[in-house]
Amino acid sequence: MKGSVFFPSASTGRIVFVAVFYNNIWKSQNFPFLSQLLFYENGTVYDQLLILNSNFEVDPTLLAEQGLPYYAGTWVVYLLSTNLGLAATFTHLLLWNRDDLRDAWSWMSPSYLHKQWQELRWENVNWKFWNDDGIREQPRKDEDIDPHYAEMLKYPDAPNSWYYTTFVVAFAVALVVIYKSNSTLPWWGFVVSVLLATISILFLGALYAITGIGISIQTFVQMIAGYLHPGKPMANMYFVLYSYNTVSQASLLLRDLKIGQYTKLPPRASFAAQIIGTFLGAILNYFLMNSIIDSQREILLSIEGTNIWSGQQPQQYNSQAIAWGGLSHELFSTGMRYQWVPFSYLIGLVAPVPFWLVHRYWPRLRTDYVYTPIVCAFIGWLCVGINSSVLSFFAVAFLSQWWIRTRYPHRFQKYNYIVAAALDGGTQVMVFILSFAVQGAAGTVHLFPAWWGANQGGNYDRCLSLR
Ligand SMILES: *[C@@H]1O[C@H](CO)[C@@H](O)[C@H](O)[C@H]1NC(C)=O
Repeated sequence: MKGSVFFPSASTGRIVFVAVFYNNIWKSQNFPFLSQLLFYENGTVYDQLLILNSNFEVDPTLLAEQGLPYYAGTWVVYLLSTNLGLAATFTHLLLWNRDDLRDAWSWMSPSYLHKQWQELRWENVNWKFWNDDGIREQPRKDEDIDPHYAEMLKYPDAPNSWYYTTFVVAFAVALVVIYKSNSTLPWWGFVVSVLLATISILFLGALYAITGIGISIQTFVQMIAGYLHPGKPMANMYFVLYSYNTVSQASLLLRDLKIGQYTKLPPRASFAAQIIGTFLGAILNYFLMNSIIDSQREILLSIEGTNIWSGQQPQQYNSQAIAWGGLSHELFSTGMRYQWVPFSYLIGLVAPVPFWLVHRYWPRLRTDYVYTPIVCAFIGWLCVGINSSVLSFFAVAFLSQWWIRTRYPHRFQKYNYIVAAALDGGTQVMVFILSFAVQGAAGTVHLFPAWWGANQGGNYDRCLSLR
């Protein structure tokens, strides 16, 4: 139950969207108001297959015939704002949380690396990692550590060697996949993508842990991949898969480990549950996705989707792969149409500085509450699809974070988080059941009876100006 934090920034975002559209910036009025696709200048959806050769690489002659594609204006705002937010995350954490970061990076210190290196010497390695007893040093009495963590030290740990082994196996599988699937991504590109993910998770994971809000590195790594592998949209997608998805999966893992710590689940049980869940999830997701794609193909290919199904994620993944992977130089270099998209990283890097300075000299203004990464990133929020569902999001946030919290602080403390966890769990189960039983993941759809709030067959947001 969070969300009121970015309410002001989300509303600023709506104003920016409208301003961009009515001022026809980036020819916005030629295209739909909200969309994640690429378009011809006349507003027809861009046919990317006409610029790709048989290896799915961009062919310059074909590109010259078709002309460069355009984004919807609101999508450009989204790109600008996520870039601002991402860059601001790094500066913000370096300014405000230097000490926490120092702890997170302590493994980089020469003495620690030396110790690890000793342990990695052939004769010192415990090859039978499954025999590791995982018993950890107990904390000294005077040591100031988190009480939840202190409780956890009583359990045998899931040793690092288990995680290393998982990493090595996953790395090998990924290498086989990129070569066997003709991904056009070379091995060194894969290594770079994994390195990027490793560095990012330490910053983004920290922001997520502090605020409960994660910021996506997707647009950033799409750009890096675009510069590393120009003209190769397929390589771009694989690069993004192994960097962006790695970070989001790592955030989920960290979140679950944290919940495991709060509920005092033994670390080895958490580890086993994660591994089994990942295997089952991979198989289940594969069949689910295939079933949904077969039965809802038309809706998934449409720009808007419905309130239930939408292809916006894969569509934007695809548009970004074409734009960044295929046309990074033509669209985003200095002097080109969307040059401000990469420039916004530089602006984002300095965005937190003024608030930090103000706080140093005028601490009573409480500018330490201003999380510029989140304010920036959410300006471009809700740039696609059907969005009225966030009303319930804010309704619950105001109810819990404002009404209950200010009027019944004791009840809030006692019940807020447990109710939130229960609602989360319940929602996930319901989504699964509803998708298949009612909403047509397996074929037949049983629509909710039409009324003012369920505009069946029309636009669910009752948006009057789709174009
Ligand atoms: C828009 O331009 C593209 C490419 O030149 C063309 O294929 C398409 O038919 C045009 N659409 C309209 C509505 O004129």
